[in-house]
Amino acid sequence: MKRIFSNREIVLGVTGSIAAYKACEIASRLTEYGANVTPVLTKSACELVGSATFEAICGRAAITHMFAPLQNPDVEHIAVAQRAHLYLIAPATANFIARATHGIADDWLTTTLLATRAPILIAPAMNTNMYEHPATQENMQTLRRRGVYFVGPDSGRLACKTIGPGRLIDPMKIVEACVPLVSERHDLKNVRIVMTSGGTHEPIDPVRYIGNRSSGKMGRALALEAIARGASVTVVTGPSEVAMPEGALAIPVETAAQMAEAVVNLAQDADVFIGAAAVADYRVETPSNSKKKKSGKKLDLTLVENPDVLGLVGAVKRAKQILVGFAAETDDLLANAALKLKKKQLDLIIANEVNTDVSGFGKDTSKAALIGRDGKVDDLPLLTKEEVAERIMDRVVALIHAA
Ligand code: C5P
Repeated sequence: MKRIFSNREIVLGVTGSIAAYKACEIASRLTEYGANVTPVLTKSACELVGSATFEAICGRAAITHMFAPLQNPDVEHIAVAQRAHLYLIAPATANFIARATHGIADDWLTTTLLATRAPILIAPAMNTNMYEHPATQENMQTLRRRGVYFVGPDSGRLACKTIGPGRLIDPMKIVEACVPLVSERHDLKNVRIVMTSGGTHEPIDPVRYIGNRSSGKMGRALALEAIARGASVTVVTGPSEVAMPEGALAIPVETAAQMAEAVVNLAQDADVFIGAAAVADYRVETPSNSKKKKSGKKLDLTLVENPDVLGLVGAVKRAKQILVGFAAETDDLLANAALKLKKKQLDLIIANEVNTDVSGFGKDTSKAALIGRDGKVDDLPLLTKEEVAERIMDRVVALIHAA
């Protein structure tokens, strides 16, 4: 995330929804990930949240009204609008959406919205009836048609004590939705990537399962990197600790059999298939329909082999389709990985050391070597999973060009 946002200029427009306090979290995340954020508060937002909070978080003067004496010449409205790589309005009220639709320029935010050529992303937050009102819906349609992007809203408990659509979507999802819009690299544009991520749970009975350890962090990092570079990303994800990023189509599954079924259909249309899931190699042959009681005796389970999801895709691999796999090994890492590359018809395999304190399951860092079908080996130093994802996608781009 850091690299994607670094030195990108984001105007964060905050309007007068009760959810305005959540914009502090959005400002904080964007700043943490390296963006230069100019906070802009409408008059009603100022009634709900203080500009001092945003100034402290963003390290920049907040713009609160049109004719404030200029303390910083950079805060001149057209300059800010032209410099911006993205206009993010979060939360956006029905009133803001209406004004933006009709080109009404009656405050700083709406005025500069007409002046900017940056992409615009809107995160609506309002009462359900206001959101569902035909005026709001039609306004949103108009804006969409003009190329404005929307993220959310969510459905849930609202400040007005109703439950329904209109809740501001999770701040982290808003930040993730910014990723493809601020990114500078588009070398995976129009590339369709299907991938697996997470582990699988194979039931013993309705309560217990066996499975592989997997946090899903590598899969998430890969999905985010691919989205940032313009790919369309579908992730068939087994249970994992982290959610897939906003912008990826996530298809949740539990077992290896379900994963295989979902993948076989999707992989046909994929330009690139990445098997990042830690699929359990075995499942219980006949899981019990009721909870097995403790009996004080040994419990025997018969395990049968699961389908090899990546192997299935490899068996029907199309010409020019790129297949990427992982090899998590404790011994003879490179030799085992190279064997798997051949056996599964892969173009690239990522050999991961998993028996160290800093690399492998659940960690934020990874020690990996990338081995290509041409035998080219990139032995990477210890990197964050985001950095490893970037290197993997660089190799994927090279493979696409070579295909
Ligand atoms: O053979 P092994 O499990 O070590 O191979 C690892 C690679 O194969 C990973 O990319 C993993 O996602 C994939 N795999 C799979 N289905 C399985 C087992 C592994 O897709 N049943």
